[in-house]
Amino acid sequence: MNLTDKIALVTGGSAGIGRAIAESLIGAGAKVAITGRDRAKLERTAEAIGAHAIQADVAQEADVERTYQELLAAFGDLDMLINNAGVGVFKPLVEMDQASFERVIATNVTGAMLMGREAAKLFVARNRGNIVNIASTASLRGAAGGTAYMTSKFALRGMTECWRAELRKHNVRVMQINPSEVITDFASAAGFEQADHPSKLQSQDIAHMVKAVLEMDDRGFTTELTVFATNPAS
Ligand SMILES: NC(=O)c1ccc[n+]([C@@H]2O[C@H](COP(=O)([O-])OP(=O)(O)OC[C@H]3O[C@@H](n4cnc5c(N)ncnc54)[C@H](OP(=O)(O)O)[C@@H]3O)[C@@H](O)[C@H]2O)c1
Repeated sequence: MNLTDKIALVTGGSAGIGRAIAESLIGAGAKVAITGRDRAKLERTAEAIGAHAIQADVAQEADVERTYQELLAAFGDLDMLINNAGVGVFKPLVEMDQASFERVIATNVTGAMLMGREAAKLFVARNRGNIVNIASTASLRGAAGGTAYMTSKFALRGMTECWRAELRKHNVRVMQINPSEVITDFASAAGFEQADHPSKLQSQDIAHMVKAVLEMDDRGFTTELTVFATNPAS
């Protein structure tokens, strides 16, 4: 797809990987709306990169429905949804509390489903569209402390396969990107320290791959793409 004048919606586009994706799509000529819960942060980013800000929580159905109303009022159409908003909680099973578990599932699974559902309605009616789900290498294997986050990403991977099976006949490309560790604010939001190092992945590396899968000619698509740092410092 040639991205010039195409319309993109990037959830969690106010920071980190989502911001880099939005910037990269804008650089390729797309019109981009970004979402996030923190209005001030969202508006600062939108202003800085030339995106349209829609303050919304993907985990709230009313916010999701309003997101699409605002998007269509601003741009009139949608060509690609980037389901990127995500949060993490990392605790051993014996310490896992219901509220933390459900908070992660609400954003990473329910939120992605609600955003995907509304995009799919538009895409089926238009007989074309693109959904890119930002999952993680956490969608591919479990590890200690991953009960909430890894479960949410396994679920996102499962939904990606289901959507692909449903939507492919409507010319909708459903794709998944699995970043390994990327230097963002995700770690501090999840309550752990991330050691910065030039050998680790940056948000721009993931944005590069998202743009690449979208730019491929519509006759084909990438089902899933996993991105690791070549030789990250531990
Ligand atoms: N960083 C990594 O190492 C890594 C690796 C693999 C996969 N990922 C995935 O990549 C995605 C982006 O992560 P990141 O590292 O860029 O994180 P980040 O820097 O913490 O940014 C997260 C973004 O999502 C927004 N957000 C969070 N919850 C939201 C909600 N309920 N509704 C709307 N927006 C919400 C945040 O804004 P507000 O807080 O203002 O809402 C922010 O814009 C996530 O799905 C994450 O799981 C990250």
